[in-house]
Amino acid sequence: MSFNIKIFGKQISSKQFAIESPNKKIRCVVKLKNGRICYEVWRDETELIRESRLGFLLYGEKELGQNLNLVRTQKKSQDETWETVVGEQKEIRNNYNEMTFYLAEKNEKQRLFSVRFRVFNEGMAFRYEIPPQPSFQRIIISDELTEFNVDLNGQAWRIPAYQATKYELNYEKWPVYELRDSVHTPLTIETNSNKYLAIHEAALYNYGSMTLKLNAGKCLQTDITPLSDGMKAYVDLPFSSPWRVIEVADSAIELTVNRMILNLNDPPKEDFSWVKPLKFLGIWWAMYVGEWTWAEGDKHGATTEHAKKYLDWCIKLGISGLLIEGWNNGWSGEWSLNGKYTDFLHPVADFDMDQVAQKARKHNLELVAQHETVGQIDNYERQLESAFAYLVSNGIHYVKIGYTGAKMLISGKQEYHHSQVGVLHYQKTVEIAARYQIMLDIHEPIKGTGIERTFPNILTREGAKGQEYEGGKINLNHATILPFTRMLAGAFDYTPGIFDLKNPAKRVYTTLARQLAFYIVFFSGMQMLADRPEMYEKNPSIFEFLKEVPVNWQMTIPLLGKIGEYFVVARQDRDSSDWYIGGVTNEEARRVNLNLGFLDDETKYTAYIYCDGETCDYLENPLDIAIEKKVIDKTEQLDLWLAAGGGFGQPLQSGLAQD
Ligand code: NOJ
Repeated sequence: MSFNIKIFGKQISSKQFAIESPNKKIRCVVKLKNGRICYEVWRDETELIRESRLGFLLYGEKELGQNLNLVRTQKKSQDETWETVVGEQKEIRNNYNEMTFYLAEKNEKQRLFSVRFRVFNEGMAFRYEIPPQPSFQRIIISDELTEFNVDLNGQAWRIPAYQATKYELNYEKWPVYELRDSVHTPLTIETNSNKYLAIHEAALYNYGSMTLKLNAGKCLQTDITPLSDGMKAYVDLPFSSPWRVIEVADSAIELTVNRMILNLNDPPKEDFSWVKPLKFLGIWWAMYVGEWTWAEGDKHGATTEHAKKYLDWCIKLGISGLLIEGWNNGWSGEWSLNGKYTDFLHPVADFDMDQVAQKARKHNLELVAQHETVGQIDNYERQLESAFAYLVSNGIHYVKIGYTGAKMLISGKQEYHHSQVGVLHYQKTVEIAARYQIMLDIHEPIKGTGIERTFPNILTREGAKGQEYEGGKINLNHATILPFTRMLAGAFDYTPGIFDLKNPAKRVYTTLARQLAFYIVFFSGMQMLADRPEMYEKNPSIFEFLKEVPVNWQMTIPLLGKIGEYFVVARQDRDSSDWYIGGVTNEEARRVNLNLGFLDDETKYTAYIYCDGETCDYLENPLDIAIEKKVIDKTEQLDLWLAAGGGFGQPLQSGLAQD
């Protein structure tokens, strides 16, 4: 099949239309066939998504999507450039061609809905829009019938949905034809035609999160996370669904800089210039290595004394934030079971909020207060507004919210975190936080769907297996898969920076240089320096890297990568002309050869190369790190060695450093 279309939005026949990307390489074909609306996606002459149907099953109503007439179409084009407040790049171009199909049923009820398609140079997306109608004001969606008819022989990197650990799983590479059980998105697929696709959603509001599985016809189809009564969503009309997004790339690294998810979200409606990225220490890892506890008692971590001491560490090490976990009432005993009684308004007896907050203010340091909800949403929402007001009255503008537990308790019912009511809760916290000028790091979150464009106070979230799983539960290829999968959903709080790798209480299976690489490989608007400060004091030359590494970037250029094997990325600091290059490998040691052609012309850079030492490997000798200094320019090739389970982090400072 081939097309010869020179303008976007061309009508091929009375029932077939083609929407082209601005560069004309991607083409979405929309058809009305047997009364249904369906679409295909082509990249040049390669069909990436075969004919796929659209529609909904509605409770108590006829299926929506059959027996349709096309009422009219509407075209639009957009080419704008906008700026992120905090992000992987400062300027983002949003360039697409759009065509909306307004549809009406042919039967006597003549229900109306439309599908809006946008085709970018980097992929395509569509959303359903249902207007209010006299006999159709509120709907109960019992299923979404959207298909993504990809080649079943492609290879997908999947994590299963509906698990107690939510998104916190190692990824596995499976052929698409085996995805019989639901998997999360972003779902990254390498096709047989050597293209890379990522299926995800953008602007997820007031709806269950999309997972994907093969339907009986053996085609990937949406499986929307259900509510406890089995329904997928209760919505008042007008309703716009989240965008269904198919990112398309010729190479795996090209996928990593696809910005469609952000572009498909609205610009902020208020001023967010108060949002600031943050690097922070934490009363945290000491809990993971058993030195301290969250709960009160002899080993309580969040005491006034410890917090003040950690603030002194912030001053000494030059780090501007401090996370405190276990400061509030509710952590005693088996804390994960006590969430119903957690009190976010009162500190525990041995934590004096006034004293700690005063000291932080005096030294211009930011506190990050943790709210561990244990998924007890009814309890949390009762306190949410006053809890944020309490923190702000103490000068605290950063909150790390946690939602541990297999399910959430919402309106007295056990619900999935990723169901419509879960999504509504996450959204409520983001909006209330924004009113209080509070910035968020959300753990056990709903996955990122780009809403941080609209609400830049979401600085980061977890939503993947992070460093706390160390001790043998993180596959060595995890860090080489995440940039192509989870990271397509935005910032990730991996909690990097562990120097105490050989601690038997929590053995960390990485090399030391890889811990530095994480700061460049995993973008996060809040970056934790996760180890205890004593570890940093012991390693001043390595700590220098953590002190200097930026959080907010001007530009990001992926250099090399193979999913599950290695990834190397260069990022330019937003506040200087310095570049940072970070790389990670899987369990195999390897050499990488880096072309530096992206650097400025006629500029000399001092490169500080923090890389795995000659005898280094993650198992036997993880602490062997070499620091090399070298003057380079864009004509140079850098040949670097990465140990098994290793990595490198490499600042390139423009202007020559003094010895
Ligand atoms: C899991 C979170 O990911 C972690 O960061 C936190 O410390 C614990 N829950 C306790 O809230």
